[in-house]
Amino acid sequence: MGKKVGLIYGSETGNTEYIAELIQKKWGEDSIEIHNVADMELSVFEEYDLLILGVPSWYDGQVQDDWDEMLENLDDVDLNDRVIAIYGLGDQQDWGLYFIDAVGALAEKFTQEGAKLIGEWPVDGYDFIESQAINKKGNFYGLALDEDWQSELSDERIKTWIAQLKKELHELQQIAA
Ligand SMILES: Cc1cc2nc3c(=O)[nH]c(=O)nc-3n(C[C@H](O)[C@H](O)[C@H](O)COP(=O)(O)O)c2cc1C
Repeated sequence: MGKKVGLIYGSETGNTEYIAELIQKKWGEDSIEIHNVADMELSVFEEYDLLILGVPSWYDGQVQDDWDEMLENLDDVDLNDRVIAIYGLGDQQDWGLYFIDAVGALAEKFTQEGAKLIGEWPVDGYDFIESQAINKKGNFYGLALDEDWQSELSDERIKTWIAQLKKELHELQQIAA
């Protein structure tokens, strides 16, 4: 087993970075390490039991630029059976046709490369038109956060999501043991 949890984020205006720090605080500071995807070694992807990936969506649902570049390099990383969870930042009101689309792009790419995705999240409580981040069960592939319109809900959502991730991770590790 490697180190416990690595969080990799990309961010244009700081929201996804801010949430990374909140997740770290709520998880327990000593057990989570934060990396900016713009400035890290590819080997980081192979160092942790759980990888949390933070991505904002920009301009009609595009993956944030630094993440976009990184996705092209992922073929050189062994992601087989690596456990990942994704959180996405978006704006459900002004960009409601593309709400957290980038989460869908990351989920697709990482699972194609063999990663195991945990931490799906219900769509209840959001008001958007369309999203490419919804799985076959009708849930978001990961945690959806909207710092533009629902920042007051982020704290509680993060708390609930972390408890869920810890539970899912524990169950996986029991199966593997
Ligand atoms: C020009 C612009 C385009 C955006 N496009 C989208 C989008 O397509 N989908 C979405 O959900 N949010 C969109 N957003 C909202 C951002 O994702 C949101 O503000 C997010 O918190 C930014 O995170 P960051 O500061 O980490 O980059 C957009 C915001 C701006 C200003």
